[in-house]
Amino acid sequence: MTRTALIVGASGITGANLARELIDDGWTVHGLARRPGHAVEGLRPVAADLLDPAGLKAALAGLAPTHVFLTTWMRNATEAENIRVNGAMVRNLLDAVRPARSVRHVALVTGLKHYLGPFDAYATGGTLPQTPLREEQPRLPIENFYYAQEDEVYAAAARDGFTWSIHRPHTVIGQAVGNAMNMGTTLAVYASLCRESGRPFRWPGSAAQWNGLSDVTDARLLAKHLLWAATTELAWNEAFNVANGDVWRWNWLWPRLAGWFGVEPAGFDGTVHPLEPTMAQDGPLWREIVARHGLVEPDLGRLASPWHTDLDLGRPIEVMTDMTKSRKLGFTAYQPTEESFFDLFEQLRADRLIP
Ligand SMILES: NC(=O)c1ccc[n+]([C@@H]2O[C@H](COP(=O)([O-])OP(=O)(O)OC[C@H]3O[C@@H](n4cnc5c(N)ncnc54)[C@H](OP(=O)(O)O)[C@@H]3O)[C@@H](O)[C@H]2O)c1
Repeated sequence: MTRTALIVGASGITGANLARELIDDGWTVHGLARRPGHAVEGLRPVAADLLDPAGLKAALAGLAPTHVFLTTWMRNATEAENIRVNGAMVRNLLDAVRPARSVRHVALVTGLKHYLGPFDAYATGGTLPQTPLREEQPRLPIENFYYAQEDEVYAAAARDGFTWSIHRPHTVIGQAVGNAMNMGTTLAVYASLCRESGRPFRWPGSAAQWNGLSDVTDARLLAKHLLWAATTELAWNEAFNVANGDVWRWNWLWPRLAGWFGVEPAGFDGTVHPLEPTMAQDGPLWREIVARHGLVEPDLGRLASPWHTDLDLGRPIEVMTDMTKSRKLGFTAYQPTEESFFDLFEQLRADRLIP
C-alpha cells in the first residue's frame, strides 16, 4: 500500500527525525515548514505558513497525503494566545488537506504539559499530578493549547473519517538547529562554554529534579513511535506517552555528561541557578569559540534554549511517564538515555556545531 506522509513542522526536532525514519522505511515524505530547507535527504519540501490559510491551500494543492504528522507549535506570550494560534495551525492544516480526500490517519505530537499544565502554570500551581504520568489521567481544569489542538484533531476526524493518534513525549533529545526547545543541544553548548571558560558544569535546576527519577524521549524513538501508531490498527484513536524506557536520576547523569566534555560537574548546592541569565552573557564568548574552532553557528540563540531547560530542570516534582499502554499494544522500542545524549553530542561535533 502506498504511504505518503505530510510532516508538518519538518525542520523541527521531532519532524526532522521523523522524516529520516519514514524515508528509511520507504515512504514518500513531504515536509512542511515556513523554511523547510533540505536538511533531510529525500524530503520533498513544502514552504507554507500555517497561519495563512490561502497560502497553505495553494502550497498543498496537488498533494495527496495518506498520513499527516503534526509536529509543530509556536510559542506565544500567554496560554490564551497559545491556544488561539496553535489551535488555528492544526485547524488550517486539516482544512487545507481536506479537498484531496486522501488522509487516512493524523498523528499529533503534544507533550507532558498535558498533565503538568501550560508554561504559565507549569507544575507549580495547585495539586501536582501523580507520577509516573499515565494516559488515563484526566485533563487539568485549566486552559491548555494541547487540549485545543487535540480537540481540532477529534473534530476533523469525526467530520472527515480518518483515524488519529496523540503522542506525548517528555523532553525531546535530538538534533535540530534554530528550533524552539532543545535541551540536549543547550546542555552541549553550556558544557562547551564551561570548558572554554574554566567554569564548573553547574546543575541549574531544583532539588526535586536533581534527586528524583526522570526520563526523556529520544527524537529517534519518538519517530519510531509515530510510525508504529500510524500503521498499527490497535493504536488508532488512542493517546500515548512516549519515553525512552529507562529511568535514572539527574544526580547520576549530570557527572556523566560532564565527563563526556571533560568539565568539572557541580551538583545541587541548595540553590537553583537558572541557565538563562548565565547564558544571556555568553553570546560574545560563543562567537569567539566558533571562530577559534571553525564552527558553523555563531548565534548562540539558534542552538540553545535555556528558558526551556530551566523550566524542565527547575520543576518542583520528579517527572517520568508510564509506557505500559504502548508496550501492551506491541511498541517495544527502547533507547538508553545516556546514549541519546552521547549520540547527539557526537553528531553536533561532526556537524561542527560544538567544538
Ligand atoms: N522539544 C521538546 O523538548 C519537546 C518536548 C515535549 C513536547 N514537545 C512538543 O512537541 C511538539 C512539536 O515540537 P518540536 O519541539 O518538535 O518543534 P520545533 O523543533 O520547535 O519545530 C517546529 C516546526 O514547526 C515549524 N513551524 C513553526 N511555525 C510554523 C508556521 N507558522 N507555519 C509552518 N511551519 C511552522 C518550524 O519551522 P519554521 O520555523 O521554518 O516554520 C519547525 O519545522 C510541540 O507540541 C511541543 O510542545 C516538544
